[in-house]
Amino acid sequence: MAPSVKPRLSTRLSGLAPSATLAIDAQAKALVEAGEPVISFGAGEPDFPTPSHAVAAAVEACGNPLNHHYSASAGLADLREAIAVTCYRDTSLEVGPKQVLVTNGVKHALFNALATLVDPGDEVIVPSPWWVTYPETVRLVGGVPVEVRTTPESGFKASVEQLDAAATPATKLLIMTSPSNPTGTVYTGEELRAIGAWAGDRGIWVVSDEIYAHLVFGDHTQHSIVAVAPELADRWVILNGVSKSYAMTGWRLGWMIGPEDVIAAAANLQSQTTSNVCNVSQRAAIAALTGHGHAIGEMRAAFDTRRKLMVRLLGDIEGVSCVEPFGAFYAFPSFAGVLGRALGAHKSEPSSTMELAALLLEEVHVAVVPGEAFSAPGYLRLSYALADEDLYEGMTRIKEFVAGEG
Ligand SMILES: Cc1ncc(COP(=O)(O)O)c(C=O)c1O
Repeated sequence: MAPSVKPRLSTRLSGLAPSATLAIDAQAKALVEAGEPVISFGAGEPDFPTPSHAVAAAVEACGNPLNHHYSASAGLADLREAIAVTCYRDTSLEVGPKQVLVTNGVKHALFNALATLVDPGDEVIVPSPWWVTYPETVRLVGGVPVEVRTTPESGFKASVEQLDAAATPATKLLIMTSPSNPTGTVYTGEELRAIGAWAGDRGIWVVSDEIYAHLVFGDHTQHSIVAVAPELADRWVILNGVSKSYAMTGWRLGWMIGPEDVIAAAANLQSQTTSNVCNVSQRAAIAALTGHGHAIGEMRAAFDTRRKLMVRLLGDIEGVSCVEPFGAFYAFPSFAGVLGRALGAHKSEPSSTMELAALLLEEVHVAVVPGEAFSAPGYLRLSYALADEDLYEGMTRIKEFVAGEG
């Protein structure tokens, strides 16, 4: 009898969707390298350099042999302390260093948190439009993502009623993101309190991704659901990092904060999988967190100017509507009104935003991320983390393309 041949790839990974945002970014970067005049609204990262004091700390760290070797897998003591202090400064939540785990970016913190909390078959509620990585990571650890669809009418906010309708006895946790990627939605303290109280009363954990916490505009204020909803008791995890607030995406430095038993379990997982995060990046993060905060303020002011410009320019495109974003650096306009129309010089008639995004890249060299990647067909995500003149030029190309020119 012939031996049965096992599949080459594990079933766990063969169903994993690639990151659409990274894919678009890679396509756009490849076109730029080929000399094409690409304008990319695809990037999920600030276009600013890392603050110089963080870079200087990294350069110094490279010269110190202490940093050339393994260190504690949960993170350098000084960094865990600095993160605890930062957490208190930003959210009024008092945590100790043992409640902090330093990770390779927030993506890794998300994986660690879900691997630590979710058992196979556990349901995880995720409001959509969602960041692509949430449902995929839930599946990767054996959980079942449960989508709660939000709409422009509510400003893309999930209500307690919607969450309650999605909850079952199998629900283990809820993932909350405010400010949100891709919509830029910022929940008010009251809204977060109501959601946190609901989750607490039902014994549902909350994983709160606060990576865009410093990027909130207008008269909106950032709140951590954990700080405003004491009902969550000890069933919460906060995810954060230096990627977006300090323009440090390439340094791969994030963290999770939670109850000590959860952090100890996640640190154990990390000790068996990745060991410590690069010491040089950790030293740079200490400098970023403990140094002056001018860089964040300057970046936020620039993003706010671009945010307003983008919303205004989107408003000038016939058939496009956009809920004003008040956080992160994304706009999430609906392009449903332009689908099926004859667009661009070749009078193409895209029937989906996936097709529209491909046409924009091919025909006018503008990179955007289709809403399909966020479980929201009919929308495009446009990052405004790019220079003002590029933003203007890119929006002009989109406008002309939609008008049947370009
Ligand atoms: C909501 C959200 N969380 C986490 C991340 C990933 O952060 P990091 O680069 O630190 O892994 C992103 C990046 O786009 C994001 O949008």
